[in-house]
Amino acid sequence: MRIGILTSGGDCPGLNAVIRGAVLKGIKEYDDIEFVGFRDGWRGVVDGDIMDLPRSRVRGISKQGGTILGTSRTNPFEGPNGGPEKIKATLDRLGIDAIIAIGGEGTLAAAQRLTDAGLKIVGVPKTVDNDLDATDYTFGFDTAVEIATEACDRLRTTGESHHRCMVAEVMGRHVGWIALHTGMAAGAHAILIPEHPVSIDQISQWVSEARDRGRAPLVVVAEGFVTTDMEMPHSERGLDSFGRPRLGGIGELLAPEIEARTGIETRATVLGHIQRGGVPTAFDRVLATRLGMAAVDSVVDGLWGTMVALHGTDIVHVGFEKALGNLKTVPEQRYDEAAILFG
Ligand code: F6P
Repeated sequence: MRIGILTSGGDCPGLNAVIRGAVLKGIKEYDDIEFVGFRDGWRGVVDGDIMDLPRSRVRGISKQGGTILGTSRTNPFEGPNGGPEKIKATLDRLGIDAIIAIGGEGTLAAAQRLTDAGLKIVGVPKTVDNDLDATDYTFGFDTAVEIATEACDRLRTTGESHHRCMVAEVMGRHVGWIALHTGMAAGAHAILIPEHPVSIDQISQWVSEARDRGRAPLVVVAEGFVTTDMEMPHSERGLDSFGRPRLGGIGELLAPEIEARTGIETRATVLGHIQRGGVPTAFDRVLATRLGMAAVDSVVDGLWGTMVALHGTDIVHVGFEKALGNLKTVPEQRYDEAAILFG
């Protein structure tokens, strides 16, 4: 059997560990499995652009950031060679029997449509934002939180030296998991997440309280956060190839407002793609490796239209529809728990 692996959507640390886990499991546990990789996500599928993935190609890659296959946000239903019929013909020509698609919501939604049309696809959930439902954690999230926490620790020492308020903007398009965990770990005086709009006056009050206790206030804000006065997340950099607004900049927007209301000199830092680069943490390497191995079992068992997922400490198989129905948002109770520490 010949299995094609693809990585699609925004990259995150751990993708290479999934690829290595799948290839090693397939080669060591099953007799007649070989692997190829599609270059740049669905683009490689549509164009039939593949590379061999022998065991030697995945040697030592679980600690490497990024993806050795490349990624893109290509929609497999678009273009002259897109759509289920043409893709099926391409796979037949290349002798590829099944696909392991590693990706987030957009990737898995496309995989679901293609599976419904008869293609043999299983999924591996991937999102640094940790916003996919039906899995407790996604790999890459732990690494992003680690990087963002270290950055906040650094912002605090410079903030304390200058008696400033520091605003750290982290990723989190629809959900605030990175902000919540980073803020808690770094001892932030306010954590601002998309699920819970608050007013600029409330933010300023938390900042003032921290200052009045002699602290240099730290505010952690997710890129998708909106104040109670805003209708849409801040975005002035146009749309990406999926037509989604490119977010970022809310920190810069908040900083002068906080400064004007509190009188505390305030600086904003956008962590951006630094959170998605570099080596994965040990937790992410282990999770990603286990997911890659389990995805091969899904293929061997013919579990088309399912993805592997983490439930507690177990890896399980769930239907795409379970992951795609809802975003995994931060529950109100988790926000309230963190909010006890604000101010
Ligand atoms: O979805 C993951 C994510 O990192 C979001 O947090 C962020 O808004 C987006 O990707 C950035 O995407 P790009 O790499 O295309 O700028």
